Amino acid sequence: TEPKSSKKVWKNNPVIIVKTLLLKNTEEDIKTAAELLKNGGVEGIPTETVYGLAADALNPEAVKKIFKAKGRPGDNPLIVHICDFSDIERLNLVTKIPDTAKKLADAFWPGPLTMIMKKSDVIPNEVSAGLDTVAIRFPSHKTAQAIIRESGTVLAAPSANISGSPSPTTAQHVMNDMDGKIDAVLDGGASEVGLESTVITLAGDVPRVLRPGGITVEMLESVLGKVEVDDAVLHKLADNVKVASPGMKYKHYAPKADMVIVDGTRKHVIAKINELVASHRDDGKKIAVIATEETKQFYDADVVLSMGSRADEDSIAHELYRILRDCDELDVDVIFSESFSTPRIGQAIMNRMLKAAGHQVIDTHVKYDKIIFVAQTGTCREQMAKGIMNDFVLKVPMEIEARGLVVQFPEPVNQKAEAVLISNGISTEGMVSTQLEESDITESTMVFTMESSQRERIIESFADIDPEQVFVLSQYVGDELEILDPYGGTLQSYGLCYESLRATLKKLVKRLNANT
Ligand code: TXA
Ligand code: MG
Repeated sequence: TEPKSSKKVWKNNPVIIVKTLLLKNTEEDIKTAAELLKNGGVEGIPTETVYGLAADALNPEAVKKIFKAKGRPGDNPLIVHICDFSDIERLNLVTKIPDTAKKLADAFWPGPLTMIMKKSDVIPNEVSAGLDTVAIRFPSHKTAQAIIRESGTVLAAPSANISGSPSPTTAQHVMNDMDGKIDAVLDGGASEVGLESTVITLAGDVPRVLRPGGITVEMLESVLGKVEVDDAVLHKLADNVKVASPGMKYKHYAPKADMVIVDGTRKHVIAKINELVASHRDDGKKIAVIATEETKQFYDADVVLSMGSRADEDSIAHELYRILRDCDELDVDVIFSESFSTPRIGQAIMNRMLKAAGHQVIDTHVKYDKIIFVAQTGTCREQMAKGIMNDFVLKVPMEIEARGLVVQFPEPVNQKAEAVLISNGISTEGMVSTQLEESDITESTMVFTMESSQRERIIESFADIDPEQVFVLSQYVGDELEILDPYGGTLQSYGLCYESLRATLKKLVKRLNANT
């Protein structure tokens, strides 16, 4: 059957398409979508990352339509989407499948990972933009798989946005950018991940991440061992640097508004953003703040948009592009955004945000100049920590103190703790227990407790202290176990406590020195 497309228009005039079909996620419409692609059409398809603008990857004329519709520079190559690992060999897409590709495919395909390999002659130059490599992805979205399968070919598909604007995560986003320029959009619901795939090149000696995404560097390293991360991932490159992935040199993912990211602890970020909002309001600008569920109530801007709970990274990734597009729709002039260096996909989120903001970041982190170690009595673990810490070298020297939460009167160091310290060559001279007072903690003080209950107690007792200055020592350095109280134990248990403190503090020093 003749698809309900504008094919005739194609024949008469390859530039203008009058009608863009909005297809549904039904068997019949999937067939129509596949038929259009078979016939050299170009259309928006859903994937789990973002919507793609697909065409038959093996048909150069079809591929050219993608570049035209997006306004994409001709030197920026496209990803080829397959619906089974065996497609690579069956269609001879690459000269050789590296072992690393097989391992990664076993672990992460189908899914949000794109692998670059040496291309064969089967891949048209239009797809690879003249490079000798090709990027390949096997998406997990069932509808994407069905369209590829039905089309009987493989599909070149960049993100379905106009070049330079945020990637689309819904069919409506694609319509907003592409209506009248492409044959169809198939609505498969909102993209689950919300950020583009991780791109890794396997064409060089060492696998190298060119674009971070839902498959993190740690996940890749768990399969491959060492993986490099390209400089362009988190840094702004100088204009004369040659990039590995052409897409990285273009201003990307950008909303129309001027965007600034404010980094730091919660308290400082909120204060700084509110100050910025107030000063820009005088200029009569429309201002948006990008915040979280936890912080949105603290802002007073024209528009306050929430990325979801800060604890839910997946939600932040999922919401980012929608929110940037909402800012465009709302005709916002300036965006001030919180920063989102979350543990797992934070790198991918910040990579997109930094590009959206053209790397405009205001850092409100305070420079710390004092550390206070805190435990219960002020006589044991906190004193050992102070003694050990003074044994290490900090790049930027800090004052080191030890305090107790409940100190009735000054007492010397616990005898067994003292014995352990002395046998390790650490002097205990002048060590007496001292009560922690609110006035001990200035804005530039870091407080480390031995146990999480001690941290909670400090936050409860001292209402004016920023909770983000108070850390559980073990958590701060990424250890699973807290430093246990050896009180009442043998000399040996004090020795073990010393050893675990020393190992933990070594990590603390490393981290503090890395931050400077
Ligand atoms: O999640 C995704 O990857 C989405 C969906 C639709 O699959 N696609 C996507 O495509 O984000 P696109 O074109 O917007 O981004 C592909 C990136 C670009 O930065 C491009 O330069 C890079 O991958 N790339 C493609 N082929 C390459 C190659 N052979 N060598 C180096 N970089 C390549
Ligand atoms: Mg893109």
